[in-house]
Amino acid sequence: MNARAGYADVLVGLQYGDEGKAKIVDRLAADYDIVARFNGGANAGHTVSTPTGSARLAQVPSGVFHAHTLMYIGSGCVVSLVKLADELDALRSTGASLDGRLHVSEQCAVIQPWHLDFDARHGAQIGTTGNGIGPCYADLSLRWQGGVRTVVQLRDLVADEAGAFEQMARYAATHDDTPAARAATGSVIASMRAAWARLKPSVGVVDARWMTRHVQRGARVLFEGAQSVMLDVTGGQQPYVTSSHTAPAFAFVGGDLPVRYHRKTIGVAKAIASRVGAGPFRTEFGAQRSSRYCADAALRGIGWREERDRFDPQALLRSEDEFDVGVALRMLTNEYGTGSGRPRRLGRLDVAELAEVIERHGVNEWYLNKCDCLSLFSGTRDAEIPVLMPQSEGEGGAHAAAMYHFPAFDELPDDVTDIARLPLPLQAFVSAVQTATACRIAGIGLGPRREQLLILSEGTVNDDA
Ligand code: IMP
Repeated sequence: MNARAGYADVLVGLQYGDEGKAKIVDRLAADYDIVARFNGGANAGHTVSTPTGSARLAQVPSGVFHAHTLMYIGSGCVVSLVKLADELDALRSTGASLDGRLHVSEQCAVIQPWHLDFDARHGAQIGTTGNGIGPCYADLSLRWQGGVRTVVQLRDLVADEAGAFEQMARYAATHDDTPAARAATGSVIASMRAAWARLKPSVGVVDARWMTRHVQRGARVLFEGAQSVMLDVTGGQQPYVTSSHTAPAFAFVGGDLPVRYHRKTIGVAKAIASRVGAGPFRTEFGAQRSSRYCADAALRGIGWREERDRFDPQALLRSEDEFDVGVALRMLTNEYGTGSGRPRRLGRLDVAELAEVIERHGVNEWYLNKCDCLSLFSGTRDAEIPVLMPQSEGEGGAHAAAMYHFPAFDELPDDVTDIARLPLPLQAFVSAVQTATACRIAGIGLGPRREQLLILSEGTVNDDA
């Protein structure tokens, strides 16, 4: 390997998405030259809070607010032209400078009108985000149907724009060729054409060696996973998964870089877990009642406004009913979908599951976000923090877990820069969780602002013996 060559670190969510990855990426980006996406598309909803306000990202890598970084959307991603063009406009309006920074693999598949239509018809049962993600990945693998190519890659648009849009219309017509369907497809294609015209001047469409060339010349890369390892299309629990590979090993396939450049894998989790959409979630407050309520709320468009008008979170927090506690925690920690506004299902931190995920994916270090939110448990009836902890084999066999209760603590002081200034119960909590996962906690989130991430240098948190 060239002595001047760079390296790539991979950062992934360890739970069910929405762990606050963008906040960590935004903080770490200063030490990298390229921040890159390797999976997913506009289904991701990353919120970054910057000195100029908070911004919502879906397809653009979270390094966007660091002017020196290049951004790359790898071939493992699927691209919505309309949403990407809108996102770039929104970012420009916040003052972010994008000139010459965003590069997209020519091999990315493009979300087509038929994919949106299919997702709208069938996605609700598993609670998809409605961005056409599943059908697009499926069509990439399908290749050909009814005499038409099922996939359009960015390079097809570059080579023959009119032909690529015409192919999308023909492919949609193989599924539904009523006059109404033709008109609907035509109008989606018209907005895609307009979006592509807006994108062309600001996005570099690059070949498969772009990333490797940069790393060979010394670039330091941070791969930013979308969704989470628990939602991996094969590693997660079908059918309640997204349609791409979210596992960190995939970063080198979907991010177009030889694996020899891998340096370390970084995980992100949050101290009160959440999940959107359907699927197993064993620590959920209020179990099936909560998942049914959230699914119904998503269908009926109930979000934070309606919950705020209907419920008093402080009263619910004191309730004996854990479903109520879950609603209160959602409201007080603002757990609603970034894109959809859907109420997220809330659950206790599952350290047993985290330990397995960390081991399975070879995570080297991890961040625990939203530790400040744990202080809310001091307002519950028993004033304890419930956490599902792994048990050693002697205690209950492999993969056994048991609910533990840590003492709660009051609100944290502002702007803590040293772990020793945190309440002792929180210090003990962090140390116990680090020990149980056998993996170093590199930082803890103490609030939404950039500077509210407390970086823990090696050895600061002693393992809980
Ligand atoms: P899709 O990715 O839109 O097909 O949705 C499939 C499943 O993944 C649904 O349960 C979604 O709620 C979930 N999902 C997709 N993107 C995200 C994300 O960024 N955060 C959390 N969950 C997500």
